[in-house]
Amino acid sequence: MNKVLILAGGLGKRMRSPTPKVLHNILEKPMLRWVIDSTLNAGITQFAVVVGHGMDEVKRVLPEGTKVYVQEEQLGTAHAVKCAEEFVEEEDKIVVLYGDAPLIKPETIKRLFSSQADMTILTAKVDNPSGYGRIVRQGERISKIVEEIDADEETLKVNEVNSGMYAFKGKALRFALKRIKPSNKKGEYYLTDAVEVLLANGYEVDTLEVKNPQEILGANTQKELAQLAKIAREHILDLFMEKGVTIEDPSSTFIGPDVDIEAGVVIKPFSFVYGKSTIKSGAVIGPQTTLKDTFVGGNTYVIRSECDNTYISQGCRVGPFSRLRPGTKLERDVKVGNYVEVKNSHLFEGVKAQHLTYLGDATVEKGTNIGAGTITCNYDGVKKNKTFIGKNSFIGSNTALVAPVKIGEGALIGAGSVITQDVPPFALALGRARQVNKEKWVLKKMEEEDEK
Ligand code: UD1
Ligand code: MG
Repeated sequence: MNKVLILAGGLGKRMRSPTPKVLHNILEKPMLRWVIDSTLNAGITQFAVVVGHGMDEVKRVLPEGTKVYVQEEQLGTAHAVKCAEEFVEEEDKIVVLYGDAPLIKPETIKRLFSSQADMTILTAKVDNPSGYGRIVRQGERISKIVEEIDADEETLKVNEVNSGMYAFKGKALRFALKRIKPSNKKGEYYLTDAVEVLLANGYEVDTLEVKNPQEILGANTQKELAQLAKIAREHILDLFMEKGVTIEDPSSTFIGPDVDIEAGVVIKPFSFVYGKSTIKSGAVIGPQTTLKDTFVGGNTYVIRSECDNTYISQGCRVGPFSRLRPGTKLERDVKVGNYVEVKNSHLFEGVKAQHLTYLGDATVEKGTNIGAGTITCNYDGVKKNKTFIGKNSFIGSNTALVAPVKIGEGALIGAGSVITQDVPPFALALGRARQVNKEKWVLKKMEEEDEK
């Protein structure tokens, strides 16, 4: 069976960060998740992850049901694989990937699976080989891999490097694991030593050169992480531009790997689109907009706004300066304007909330106008309560709707009201002190002052 084993137990000392290395994000997605998603996209469903350092945190980003092997002590890459020995059966084909090398493409994983040797090492020729294990050849054939700290002057000059990704026949891998010794400067069990062990015992070891060396880059330091992020980002932007998306300023635009954008969308500068977001043709996003796990329908504008886990239908206008929080659903032609916050609320077709408003846990039916400064008081200090506003109603400016409360269809709420009771359909509701005008009060006051 074809299986992938991902090593993610290392400490990541060189990152100098309290976060486990493989959880550092590239475009808001942990490196380890990039590797897992490439595995899944290569059609491999049998995969396992070796965890160790920070394992509780690492486990949290794994898809449900992922097989996990624990490496209690980080004694090296071969030791990590050994911890998952049970996962490896003699007749399996095992591809080993590293959780800190996130740019690996599904096509490359497939190529590794179609390799024939007992062990196949994915290699790359790079301009700057520093930090990588070097591929040492005798004639055409690989003879060993030497880690940088174990390498002599001559070997350091080699620019063909080990990606850290391999395909093994199960039998060969099990054979090698039994024999690798920690005889190197770091005193670690190196998986790279499998090359010599297998060659010495009549197994066949081969290499496979990756087409694009950027694919194998690993992040061992914060600087390398930023470099990987830049490569990933530019690649994604290029693909969208090729497809027909207008990106006005690629240098200030960030789009995540799981985003879907149709041709005919315009992304304005300083915009960030992450998670599983979808943007339909004709939409204009930005400038200065962040979308996360958000759907944006066709011909919708989202300007200088933040939207997280929201659904925005076609023909809407959001912003400038709107904040749509999780659970918000805007049906078509809704307008949400400046300084409006919406949370876990459903706004039906044509609803307008244009200024200075908070709608939380609310349902607002078709055609209703929410006046400037309207606030749903959804939280009573203990629990969240719901507000229902019927269709074609009109909520006057500066209204406080104290939930739970229900406003009937076509109702009219006077400006400045505090509404604590349900309002029947087509009623006028006023919940404020009546105005009092005291004629010439100011003049009289002045006269009194003069007499003193
Ligand atoms: C490794 C390779 C090197 C290759 C490079 C590519 C070895 C000995 N060296 O070096 O030849 O050029 O990757 O990026 O394999 N891990 C564990 N448990 C451990 C140690 C590591 O799970 O005990 C995991 C890490 O989480 C990481 C991966 O294995 O995902 C690689 O470990 P790392 O320490 O980064 O190895 P490199 O020094 O980069
Ligand atoms: Mg590494």
